[in-house]
Amino acid sequence: MNKNITVVIGAQWGDEGKGKWVDHFAKDSDFIIRFQGGNNAGHTLYINGTKLVLHQIPSGILHDEKICALGAGVVMNPYALKEEIEKVRSIRPVTPKELAVSAKAHVITPWHIWLDIQFEKSRAFLGTTKRGIGPTYQDKAARSGLRVSQYIDDEFRLGWIQHMTASIPEFSQCLKEDEKGWQQFHEAAATLRPYVSGVETNLRKHIKENKKILIEGAQGTLLDVSYGTYPFVTSSSTIAGGAAASLGIPPKYISHTVGIAKAYITRVGEGPMPTEINDSVSEEIARKGSEFGASTGRPRRVGWFDAVAMRYAQEINGFDYIILNKLDILCGLAELKIATHYEHPTLGVLEEFPDNAQILAEVKPRYISLPGFSSIKDISGQNLSKELKTFIEAIEEHSQIKVGLIGVGSGRDDFIRL
Ligand code: IMP
Repeated sequence: MNKNITVVIGAQWGDEGKGKWVDHFAKDSDFIIRFQGGNNAGHTLYINGTKLVLHQIPSGILHDEKICALGAGVVMNPYALKEEIEKVRSIRPVTPKELAVSAKAHVITPWHIWLDIQFEKSRAFLGTTKRGIGPTYQDKAARSGLRVSQYIDDEFRLGWIQHMTASIPEFSQCLKEDEKGWQQFHEAAATLRPYVSGVETNLRKHIKENKKILIEGAQGTLLDVSYGTYPFVTSSSTIAGGAAASLGIPPKYISHTVGIAKAYITRVGEGPMPTEINDSVSEEIARKGSEFGASTGRPRRVGWFDAVAMRYAQEINGFDYIILNKLDILCGLAELKIATHYEHPTLGVLEEFPDNAQILAEVKPRYISLPGFSSIKDISGQNLSKELKTFIEAIEEHSQIKVGLIGVGSGRDDFIRL
């Protein structure tokens, strides 16, 4: 059996720094495939000091002789993908040899973006990225969506638009209001056509040939449509189990599951976040950590590391280990906190992450307090300072998880293997 399939999953509410690690693991992989989400994601890479944000293309694209693919569980924005291909092309070649798009993936049309914007106006409580993600998955489940194979077929695409115009009164309004978006939508079809293939057939072939496969997740465990803080979630399955279903591979083939987490926690958009802080410490973390959404630029909410949420993420995903990112950002803080339990006004002390977002909104975290570590110099070598070791060990103990690597800067080589 192939023992070479690794899946990389966000362990918190997204934005954990997955891009850097997918890039890291990609150098030893043959085939890198994204399994869900769309251009709501923003995976940031710093290559020789240059920042590159990828939204749809897997973060392995910067390595030579790799195949990067968007799998069937993805929702793809065609014009945004065309632009992203052009952006990456300014750094390295991107041809159908390097990039493949599943014919089974679903297409985000201007209609889905229009709907997302309308939904946000009318219910105004989710704080989505307004990239059309929810409406596209909605149409997929309702069996009225547009698959990539159908999108690149000019006749089918035009027929779909005709059908939608005839059956949904607001569709014509969207056609009129977003003429430019529709023009770009049509324009991208010719560019993307050569990239579209039976990605899953190739994936299965690579598995049989014992090639090294890297599966890239987007968003994070707490944004999973079933296991996240519903309804404040995205519309796909973001967890490790979702990877097998989204790519059509036997779950038993996934040999390694790696969780990516930050040494603190952030969240973009609405929804409960028990360890959120709003003081000079959160301001300092947000400033030093550039905590702004990579896709929307929205400021991220900041909080202390939440071991209750991490225990939950571990139970759901079964991580072999986590990579703890952005420890450098906490340098210089006098005191560090980790939430080990929650306290609820009527339910008492909670050890487990509540199933219900309403209960989560009512809890107060119970913290342990730890001494801060004073400078990055202490951790740039292999000798970790006593305070930093204590912090990592406390995360391991209270999250019941192993920390395998730590991220200490944004560059490719800014990490320490523990
Ligand atoms: P949607 O995925 O655009 O529908 O947004 C649903 C929720 O997921 C909102 O709270 C978004 O802010 C959040 N979200 C979506 N994508 C990401 C991401 O890549 N990082 C962090 N949060 C995200």
